[in-house]
Amino acid sequence: MVVDVTKLQTGEPGGTSKPRRPLVRQLRRLAVVAAGFAVLFVGLILAALPMIPGGLPGIVLGLTILSTELDWARRLRARVLRTARRALPNISWHRAFTSLAGRRKPSDRRTSSERPAVAEATSEGISRAADILRRGDLVAFPTETVYGLGAPVFNRRAVARVFEVKGRPADNPLIVHVSSRAMLDRVVRDVPDTAGHLMEAFWPGPLTLVLRRSRRVPSIVSAGLDTVAVRIPADPVALQLVRLTGQPIAAPSANRSGRPSPTTAEHVMRDLGAVVDLVIDGGPTPIGVESTVVDVTGAVPVLLRPGGISREAIERVIGTSLCSGPVSGPARSPGNKHRHYAPSCRVIPVHPDEWEGALQRVCEAGGRIGIVARTTPEFLGETIAYHRRIPGDEAEYARHLFSAFREAEDAGVDLLLVETVQETGVGLAVMDRLRRAAATDDVPEHPEEATSGS
Ligand code: TXA
Ligand code: MG
Repeated sequence: MVVDVTKLQTGEPGGTSKPRRPLVRQLRRLAVVAAGFAVLFVGLILAALPMIPGGLPGIVLGLTILSTELDWARRLRARVLRTARRALPNISWHRAFTSLAGRRKPSDRRTSSERPAVAEATSEGISRAADILRRGDLVAFPTETVYGLGAPVFNRRAVARVFEVKGRPADNPLIVHVSSRAMLDRVVRDVPDTAGHLMEAFWPGPLTLVLRRSRRVPSIVSAGLDTVAVRIPADPVALQLVRLTGQPIAAPSANRSGRPSPTTAEHVMRDLGAVVDLVIDGGPTPIGVESTVVDVTGAVPVLLRPGGISREAIERVIGTSLCSGPVSGPARSPGNKHRHYAPSCRVIPVHPDEWEGALQRVCEAGGRIGIVARTTPEFLGETIAYHRRIPGDEAEYARHLFSAFREAEDAGVDLLLVETVQETGVGLAVMDRLRRAAATDDVPEHPEEATSGS
């Protein structure tokens, strides 16, 4: 009998050896491809449903399975991973995959393609947020100033994650939010008389006091400083959240480091959407700029950051001037070292009497122009891509400043001209933020230096 060797190898009929081997191979290949397409399909469905995790990992896993058999899947998988990594540097791919297998907690399941869960500012929503915080995950919540990104203060891992997701420099300490004097005692060593008077006058409210840190507070919260910044927020949602969580909450503003602070839940989701576990939507924040920070650990109180409570009001309570000279020694408020609050466009402060010259200059420079003003500047035929008029007093201006920055970004503005205001009341904070947003370099460390000048 003549045996056809080629048929033996291919297993075609006519060979005498077992013909089923290549068939098995084909069937296995078919099964792998079918499984790959099934996983890819599920991934695509999940990606289309914003509230359910697993979309992107599903797609990548599907492509990974397919790529063992199909070249195009290998190329597509590499492209998907490259694009996603570029767009979302903070995503942990390991977490994304393990979460797909359902082995981790909800926070770790968050992936690039999702938006965070949003809770209404109801007692149900707040108690859900408190549960999430208690198990060490991150919640963004409204305060009377701006939205904060909260982590339980005694949970080092959660606090480290706040720095990580914000891209915040490790030398910039966080503010601790408490709901009572009793809770305050858990985070500070003592309360000097001046601090006591200020608390009585302004708490709950947008005044943050820098006090001596209790050893119980992890040093990461205070960036290694011996002090800790604390406030009782006035916003009922924030206050209830701290109460229900039952422990102090460390919370910086819920923006990516260097960006304008968020004054709506939408701003938070745009900056940190993929990495926050829950956002409580309490509507726009009423003050719009951050709290005033005062260091009360020395002989003379020092204004470290102007904010929602005016310098004049504080000085009336303490009966003396706040220190405004340059502070020697280590940075007293490290956050003030960095350029901050900046939208992606260039910001140019303009005095109300100087609109004409300013407009002429920017027109010569070219680019898309945006305007934020209290008055109505006379336009000389310039094409204005974005114009926001904020009439009313400094408080009104403060309330809308950061949202105007973000709107100008959305309008594709290159140069944003922003009218300056008087440096009284909350106007001091407005001008501080405006100068920092306009800075092209690091700004001086002391607010007095930062708020003086043009
Ligand atoms: O209104 C606010 O203060 C908001 C809401 C969420 O409470 N929070 C806020 O946090 O603006 P953040 O992290 O964006 O700003 C905190 C400021 C920074 O300038 C930081 O340097 C300063 O407070 N700070 C915090 N701890 C400090 C400390 N121990 N000594 C000096 N400055 C401190
Ligand atoms: Mg901030």
